[in-house]
Parts: sequence; C-alpha cells; structure tokens
Amino acid sequence: MTSKLVPLISEADIARALQTLAKEIDQDYDGKPLVVVTVLKGAFIFAADLIRKITTPISRVELIRLSSYGSGTNSSGQVKIFSDLAPEAIIRQHVLLVEDIVDTGRSTATAIALLKQHHPASVKLCSLLDKPARRIVPVEIDYLGFTIEDHFAIGYGLDWDERYRELSGIYAVEEE
Ligand code: PRP
Repeated sequence: MTSKLVPLISEADIARALQTLAKEIDQDYDGKPLVVVTVLKGAFIFAADLIRKITTPISRVELIRLSSYGSGTNSSGQVKIFSDLAPEAIIRQHVLLVEDIVDTGRSTATAIALLKQHHPASVKLCSLLDKPARRIVPVEIDYLGFTIEDHFAIGYGLDWDERYRELSGIYAVEEE
C-alpha cells in the first residue's frame, strides 16, 4: 500500500486563523501579561507564528515536550513528559498553553495537569487543530483554529515519523 498527501488546510487558511485567534486572545486578556507554554515538538511553528500576531504582552515563553505517538500514526496511549518548567514561571501567572492538535486529549490533559500543579492564576488552551472523533480524555479548547475529521494530519509542525514538519500547509496522509 502506498500513501499520498492530500491538502487539508492551506497556508492562507492558517494565516487567517492566526489573525482570528490572536484577536480573540487579545480581547480576552485585555493587556494582562501572558506566559505562553508551547508543547514540543508539534506546536513549535504554530506558537512561533501566534506569538508574533498577539499584541498582549508576553512575560515569558516556556517549552515543554510531550510525546505520545512513537513512530506510527496512532497515539501509543503513553504520554512521556520532558519538562524543566520552573514553578516560579507559572505561579500566579495567566498561562496560555499552545498545542498543535488535540487528538485523544491525553497529551493536553497531561500538560494542563502539569501546569496546574504550579498554581497559575489561569490556564487556557489554544490549539490549531481538534480531532474530536478520537477523543478519550475530555479537553476544553478555549481558542481553536480548525476541527478536522479523523485524518492523520501532517505539516506546519506536525510530523509523520519526524518528517514533514516543514510543510507550510496541513495535509492528510491517505492510503491508496
Ligand atoms: C502529538 C501532537 C499533540 C499530541 C496530540 O504529539 O503534537 O501534542 O500528539 O495527541 P493526543 O491528544 O492523542 O495526546 P506527538 O506525541 O506526536 O509528539 P510531537 O509533537 O513531538 O510530534
């Protein structure tokens, strides 16, 4: 069986979503400084673009790495956390967690639990993609770019066995 990449979300669509999300975030925080926590690796491109569209002051950017997929196209169910997040970075701060995709919800729920251990003033979630068909753990997404069907999505930070993160748009991997 061979695989092909089918366009799902264009670079222009992503650019429009970034504008909309940044506007919503700016309205809600109303000038209150934000700590942006980005989930590596997948969200690195989205977060880099989003923080340059937000005008809300960003007091710091933190990176945590979570991994659940292994090398296949299905989540392994085990979320590994690699984080050196200092509690002082989060305590009493308004935190915006930036994800590329919420799939089963396990990674995001793990990240939110990790952040809440450090007593933030608030935690909100911004995710570029939502794939509700595969949800196992409930997750509330405060700022969402796109809801997608049950496709394996790659590009714009999302990988397939570590490849394709550099693509400017998002594609579905389909078997032929
Ligand atoms: C992907 C994606 C999300 C998570 C979503 O990361 O970047 O963080 O899975 O899946 P879930 O809702 O089922 O937990 P992955 O584990 O592939 O690591 P990566 O970001 O380093 O590619």
